Amino acid sequence: MTNIAMIGFGGVGQALVEILEEKRESLSNQHGLESKVVAVADLMKGAVYDKNGLDVQTLLECVRKDGSVETYPDGPDVVKGMSSIDTIEQTNADMIVEVTFTDVKTGEPAITHCKRAFASRKSVVTTNKGPIALAYKELDEMARENGVFFGFEGTVMSGTPALRMPEETLAGNEITRISGILNGTTNYILTEMEKGKSYKEALEQAQSYGYAEADPTNDVEGYDARYKVAILANYLMDAPLDYRDVTVKGISDMTIEDVQEALGNGQKWKLIGKVERQEDGSVIGSVKPEKVEGTHPLAGVTGATNAILYECDLLGPVLLTGAGAGRKETGFSLLIDLIHYQKERKLQTS
Ligand code: HSE
Repeated sequence: MTNIAMIGFGGVGQALVEILEEKRESLSNQHGLESKVVAVADLMKGAVYDKNGLDVQTLLECVRKDGSVETYPDGPDVVKGMSSIDTIEQTNADMIVEVTFTDVKTGEPAITHCKRAFASRKSVVTTNKGPIALAYKELDEMARENGVFFGFEGTVMSGTPALRMPEETLAGNEITRISGILNGTTNYILTEMEKGKSYKEALEQAQSYGYAEADPTNDVEGYDARYKVAILANYLMDAPLDYRDVTVKGISDMTIEDVQEALGNGQKWKLIGKVERQEDGSVIGSVKPEKVEGTHPLAGVTGATNAILYECDLLGPVLLTGAGAGRKETGFSLLIDLIHYQKERKLQTS
């Protein structure tokens, strides 16, 4: 049995809890994953802990109805109001799902939560980009030293396996270059501009669909893609690339004329994040709008969909495309990390 503590309980965290409930039987039968949510701690929604496990339906109802988990019914073992750190360190959870609202520039509070969990010999799965883009090596070492699991599939392209697929299934290849459409908002805007919308109109639509952040600067200036480039370099190419060394240019100065002119020539503008190994072995990263031919593998990727192209020495180019964001899609990224945690645990005990 895996005891889960949810640190942060927004849309993605709630989606994971719903999936675990809906698929409880098949997760147990097919993957041996049996879990209980024992604690939730959220800065805005409060905290509740029951060492025997919380009733998930009641928990979700409290959040939906009251916007708080502290209206959860009292009981002999129910404790309310614990801090996130106490929830990580003092509960009987062995798996910390870290989905807090984190400042990606500092990686906090997620980095501290990961460290405190590892020091308490607890595993972590997270969708926060900050810890991986800023402190991957240190956190990975700490997890290994403490013999615990660290999963972060959702940090690049939500549940689309942009990290685990190359790491596991393409293992044995040397990946020389990775390039991709790593931000859904900007790809959506560029696609809509091809259909005749202005940049402003397309951005407003992306915001109304919830693709873009409330402050869309991170998306349109390429910063979100830049963090993802740093994660790809650090995790898949074993290169200590600092996100600040990834050159970045967004799409905010692109006009409908630029987009339409390219289209007239059978070309497309795409915001492409790239990681490339140089002849001297070093790795460089960039994010910038690029005009690609209509036949380019990334040209046909439209709307908010993401795609990533791995150039491999043995297999050649491999293209992976799928969702890059979304509540359920990112919730799934946490689930697949939990399934792999369970697989590793099974191997260790067999
Ligand atoms: N705002 C991001 C995007 C979400 O548009 O792709 C995922 O980081």
